[in-house]
Amino acid sequence: MRILMSRPIHFEIAYEINPWMKIENQAKERRALNQWQKLYDHYLYLGLKIELIDQPKGLPDFVFTANGGLVMGKKAILPNFRPKERQPETTHFKNWFDEHGYETLSVKNHFEGEGDALFFGNLLCLGYGQRTSIESHIEVGNLLGVKTLSLELIDPRFYHLDTCFAPLGDIVMYFPEAFSRASCESIEKLAPPEKRIVLSFKEAEDFAANCMLIDDIVVSSCALKTFEHKLMKVGLESDPFELNEFMKAGGSAKCLTLKLNNP
Ligand code: ARG
Repeated sequence: MRILMSRPIHFEIAYEINPWMKIENQAKERRALNQWQKLYDHYLYLGLKIELIDQPKGLPDFVFTANGGLVMGKKAILPNFRPKERQPETTHFKNWFDEHGYETLSVKNHFEGEGDALFFGNLLCLGYGQRTSIESHIEVGNLLGVKTLSLELIDPRFYHLDTCFAPLGDIVMYFPEAFSRASCESIEKLAPPEKRIVLSFKEAEDFAANCMLIDDIVVSSCALKTFEHKLMKVGLESDPFELNEFMKAGGSAKCLTLKLNNP
């Protein structure tokens, strides 16, 4: 797996665009760098190939590269951020994709990249209701020529799909309360009960869903035993990492990672 990350050399809580962010609960720069470096080293150890993009000054959330686009083959759909604070990030991601041989594509409606767009097999699951708008889903589906499933997010704390939903092979992990009733039903149709992991609020607020599946290892910031057991029951192993500095910005392991080779 090839991924894109950005070393947090200018990381801080400079504004508040989700309920986790509180300027007075400031991130500790050195600790953030340390936590990020450990995650990076561990990804390398697990065999991931990592590309790096420089974090521009003045764009603290740039480290959450999951929002930097959605990549499929050689196509990269650029983000169209809702918060004005993050809008300047797009050109930097565009430049990187251009320089690395990707065809960049834009959408007219708000779309926050892989943070709101996750493949479950060939089906592209897309979040809406908080950041990404449902109108972008048709654009994205058409640009990539894939089938899409729109999932409505109803809790501002779970403002990106990747904060409350994770496809893990043929298993689907999710926090039901983050979704509308109809969207919960759509998720339940994706997999039989034994292939679903239902997260508790405690697990969800530890960003359990914001994880990376590498072989049968699940890297996340959730160290809860309950979570470990749920994963064990389906043959997966929990591999928790301290990422609390990033959680102050409302992000965790998955947010810090953009997949560069979705099939
Ligand atoms: N502070 C960032 C924001 O609110 C965090 C982004 C987290 N990224 C993600 N893919 N969930 O936009």
